[in-house]
Amino acid sequence: MRVALYGAGQVSGNVAEVLGRRPGIEVLGPFSRSQREEALRSGADVVVIATTSFLAQVAPDIRAAVEAGSNVITTAEEAAYPWAVDAPLADELDRLARERGVTILGGGLNPGFAFDALVVTAAGAAWDVESIRVARVVDLSGFGETVLRRIGIGYTEEEFEAGTREGQITGHIGFPQSMRVVAGRLGVELERIERRISPLVAAREFTSRDLPVPPGHTAGFEQHYQGIVAGRPWFEALFTGHLDPTALAKEPRDEIWIEGSTPVHLVADPGFNPQIGSSALVANSLRRVVEAAPGWVTVADLPPATPSA
Ligand SMILES: NC(=O)c1ccc[n+]([C@@H]2O[C@H](COP(=O)([O-])OP(=O)(O)OC[C@H]3O[C@@H](n4cnc5c(N)ncnc54)[C@H](OP(=O)(O)O)[C@@H]3O)[C@@H](O)[C@H]2O)c1
Repeated sequence: MRVALYGAGQVSGNVAEVLGRRPGIEVLGPFSRSQREEALRSGADVVVIATTSFLAQVAPDIRAAVEAGSNVITTAEEAAYPWAVDAPLADELDRLARERGVTILGGGLNPGFAFDALVVTAAGAAWDVESIRVARVVDLSGFGETVLRRIGIGYTEEEFEAGTREGQITGHIGFPQSMRVVAGRLGVELERIERRISPLVAAREFTSRDLPVPPGHTAGFEQHYQGIVAGRPWFEALFTGHLDPTALAKEPRDEIWIEGSTPVHLVADPGFNPQIGSSALVANSLRRVVEAAPGWVTVADLPPATPSA
């Protein structure tokens, strides 16, 4: 299997490392911006696009790879359920993929696993589902500066408030996508999704890989999303991200509660490592994407990701 990696950042580097250990896989790249044609017109069995979070920015790259006959996996969070962002664009690329006989998947750890695929799997052990709650505490210190600044690290409280209001600071992206994937699979229609994000301001200095955060600036944030059904929260998503969660007396952890007549409570302790988990999910999705029916699919349409080549 030939796999081309577009985007010369952390995800591609980690995926290249995982795939480099697997016989039978030829890795092309990682390719940077200036090598776009090489990556997207390679005709590889799978093109992995790990560049940005936004559907509008990855759409031309997905189109180019699909036109060259490749299946596509992108880590762009908005691509986990692209209809939540731009349904006509999602439909157009879905049609193109069907015409060309290839599959597109948006996925990684979050979205792609922690708030959706794993939730759907956990719900399989319940007799019924009245509501869902997922809480994730993440150590953000392993992320690069571009991602950290975009999600909201290293700002004064005023800058954070203005940035989230105006859209330059996004927090972690992908909760509406995960909620829609789960709701779709369980046959539930969400009325609306409500969102709240609050800054966590550092009392002392914190350092990540390449972004020092002085006291008085944001070293983390809390996000709370609610998917509403019949006027009540049906899916609650809580995300706490911090450069050092122990400063909040918390440890990285993932928890899923499925409420109903037979409740299910799933705990991952310690929580899934974002860098390891994301690269694993991408590498472990190659086979299921190559074998999937053509079109734009979500993780709920596919069997679980597995480390087989
Ligand atoms: N779904 C998930 O679970 C999941 C997991 C991990 C990451 N992600 C997302 O995947 C993306 C990549 O993550 P990362 O950690 O690898 O980021 P990263 O370390 O910042 O690397 C991104 C790479 O893509 C390039 N790039 C950025 N925008 C581009 C564009 N419009 N066209 C072409 N190349 C572009 C960057 O080049 P320059 O340096 O020249 O800008 C850089 O080489 C991020 O948006 C991240 O939020 C999602």
